[in-house]
Amino acid sequence: MNGISLTRYLIEEQRAKAQIGADLRLLIEVVARACKTIAIAVGKGDLGGVLGDAGTGNIQGEAQKKLDVLSNEILLEANEWGGHLAGLASEEMDHPHAIPNEFPKGGYLLLFDPLDGSSNIDVNVSVGTIFSVLRCPEGMTGAEDDAFLQPGTTQVAAGYCVYGPSAILVLTLGNGTHAFTLDRELGSFRMTARDIQIPADTKEFAINASNARFWEAPVKRYVDEMLEGKDGPLGKDYNMRWVASMVADVHRIVTRGGVFMYPLDSKTKDKGGKLRLLYEANPMAMIVEQAGGAATTGRERILDLKPQKLHQRVPVILGSKNEVARVTGYHLEG
Ligand code: AHG
Ligand code: MN
Ligand code: MN
Repeated sequence: MNGISLTRYLIEEQRAKAQIGADLRLLIEVVARACKTIAIAVGKGDLGGVLGDAGTGNIQGEAQKKLDVLSNEILLEANEWGGHLAGLASEEMDHPHAIPNEFPKGGYLLLFDPLDGSSNIDVNVSVGTIFSVLRCPEGMTGAEDDAFLQPGTTQVAAGYCVYGPSAILVLTLGNGTHAFTLDRELGSFRMTARDIQIPADTKEFAINASNARFWEAPVKRYVDEMLEGKDGPLGKDYNMRWVASMVADVHRIVTRGGVFMYPLDSKTKDKGGKLRLLYEANPMAMIVEQAGGAATTGRERILDLKPQKLHQRVPVILGSKNEVARVTGYHLEG
């Protein structure tokens, strides 16, 4: 398939919809260019000397990989001088990065998980970048945490780039979810799927089963019923997949359906969950909803949550609409 380039898609959206201005188009192009640079670094692996630990930790107490730090720097460097942003926030930075005074400032905020699934890098499994775009609120500079504490419904764009056998950028501007595959010879992203629709039903689920003893009753019930297969109340056999890179697991669901769960459990309850709201759950929820799927915490729609903290964590259940509704229903019954 040889679809239109990302540039052409963005220009056509800009023409068709007044709300996609030149600044947002530039922002997406710049993020895509940074993702290309990260794809190249990830692809070099050991030959580039990029594998292994950085020897540092982030604010969340997680050990940083060299590629976490490098990907963060690539995204910062690419985005700070274009004049489209007021500020940037990242999993790998305690607080937002202000636009240096020497550069003009724009009206958008960019949040990202520069390298998701980085525990997989050293074993050569797919990893990715996740990003979310917000407007900087009136009266804020974009350098304060508070500027970023907006519900997911206010996102103007969201996307991820999965670095697998191909590098694929999946993007939504609030007008459907579309996929662009990197043509490595040309160095450009070309559309390979338009208006993706996640099937409402599925026979595939993704959860880290080693946490089973920590799960709450509704999740235990749902997983037990899926494991009972044809003989149980759900009346069909399920398959299970867990890559341990959210980007790769979500990409499978965006491609062929499924349900992904990193639910609340007694191990992560004190922190609110495992995955981060602003740069993991919210952008993925927007992408999935724009593709006809659903995303909840088990109790509430993710995009409706009112963030309290920049690095806030939340439970995440997302994917095929009917399955998300079923397990969310089990939570609400209890
Ligand atoms: P990150 O590498 O950005 O810290 O995120 C890792 C996340 C997510 O990608 C994945 O779904 C989950 O952690 C895997 O958790 P387990 O190791 O508990 O399976
Ligand atoms: Mn992550
Ligand atoms: Mn990460």
